[in-house]
Amino acid sequence: MDKATLTYKDRTVDFQIIEGSEGEKAIDINSLRQATNLITLDVGFQNTGSCTSAITYIDGDKGILRYRGIPIEELAEKASFSEVAYLLIYGNLPTREQQNLFSQRLTQNSMMHEEMLRFFDGFPPTAHPMAMLVTMVNALSVYYTDYYVQDFQSENFDIMAASLLSRIRTIAAYSYKHSIGQPHVYPKRDLKYASNFLYMMFDSPINPYIPDPDIERALSVLLILHADHEQNCSTSTVRLVGSSMVNLYASICAGICALWGPLHGGANQKVIEMLEEIKNDNLSIKQCIESAKDKNSKFRLFGFGHRIYKNYDPRSLILKNYCQTIFKKFNYDDTLINIAMELEEAALKDDFFIERKLYPNVDFYSGILYRMIGIPTNMFTVMFAIGRLPGMIAQWKEMHDSVPLKIGRPRQIYTGSALRHYIPPDER
Ligand code: ACO
Repeated sequence: MDKATLTYKDRTVDFQIIEGSEGEKAIDINSLRQATNLITLDVGFQNTGSCTSAITYIDGDKGILRYRGIPIEELAEKASFSEVAYLLIYGNLPTREQQNLFSQRLTQNSMMHEEMLRFFDGFPPTAHPMAMLVTMVNALSVYYTDYYVQDFQSENFDIMAASLLSRIRTIAAYSYKHSIGQPHVYPKRDLKYASNFLYMMFDSPINPYIPDPDIERALSVLLILHADHEQNCSTSTVRLVGSSMVNLYASICAGICALWGPLHGGANQKVIEMLEEIKNDNLSIKQCIESAKDKNSKFRLFGFGHRIYKNYDPRSLILKNYCQTIFKKFNYDDTLINIAMELEEAALKDDFFIERKLYPNVDFYSGILYRMIGIPTNMFTVMFAIGRLPGMIAQWKEMHDSVPLKIGRPRQIYTGSALRHYIPPDER
């Protein structure tokens, strides 16, 4: 068996090498502290595995992303979002029978308890939809307490997972309706996941929602592409919070909060704001590229760069194609899209971006596509959260299925004052 050897002072210690199914290797340092009194320090977890997982495989250098072994390109072309959700959570694509039961559960759990609508009355219309979403997801734990399950193989878990997947969509659409001062629209039992969301978002008594198959498919694909991305900031948050054995709603709520940040799921909103800034300030593409490279400038090229992908993010390639299809079909005249394409072209030719392997990430084109679908900019991160939910649930289940479950508890190197004593206020 492969091993790694560490020599520290007069001690030599061997560590086991763990190998993943795609040949990825890790040094198992579990016994490091006991053997040497050392810990490892890796700020930002740039090179630290927090778990083994059978859910998602990424090869950032080659631009590969697979869910449960299936390439993202195949799923984006052939699967529905609910099939992908099932695949991530349960490990395999559903049989017809399993799919029917899963869809039935999504439908049966799509409405919120009517009392929960009163929460919306308390939110100002200016509230950020992400703020409403996290509040409402956590509020589900007030109303659906039967499903605080400990047995993750039980039917209760299946219902809880379907309830979250279905209700998050309803909550998101209601948040939007609240923000524009319109009455909410109840979900329809005969619509598929993405179509139902668009219907609840855009139907109104005076302007009925008119479905378009390309728009509905584009939304499904967006959700599929967001559905999991292994141990990123938000998913790791779900695992860390969930490791205390708190219920699924609370764990997911913490993950959605983590997703909100502009360096993570909030980047898609930032991309559009950046493009608007370029347009409004009449900046040239050259000026933008120079500012993005200038360490003294606050300007950053949002939607570029990724901790893991040092090649094209495969998701951004799929989305670019969808953008072009929808762009042509509806004959959009959108300056922002033109700016985005020129910016991408210029960055990909620039040495700064080439040397640092900075390519467009999923957020670069997802913002543009959401914009074409008609989703308002401040809802972009909410869309990301809806899409990412199956992955978060799958990762939470996988962690709870593993034995023994260990509470997440990183260590640190203390760099504060050495021992000192309390001084009364007048003597300080
Ligand atoms: N624009 C300009 N320069 C960049 C960018 C960018 N978007 N991204 C990275 N760089 C530069 C950094 O300044 C740094 O340069 P240096 O080596 O001269 O100091 C180098 O590239 C490495 O960047 P880091 O920030 O160290 O890379 P890290 O892996 O820590 O960060 C991150 C990745 C946060 C995604 C970063 O690329 C970034 O901030 N991108 C913009 C925000 C964004 O699009 N986030 C969405 C990510 S995808 C997702 O979460 C779904």
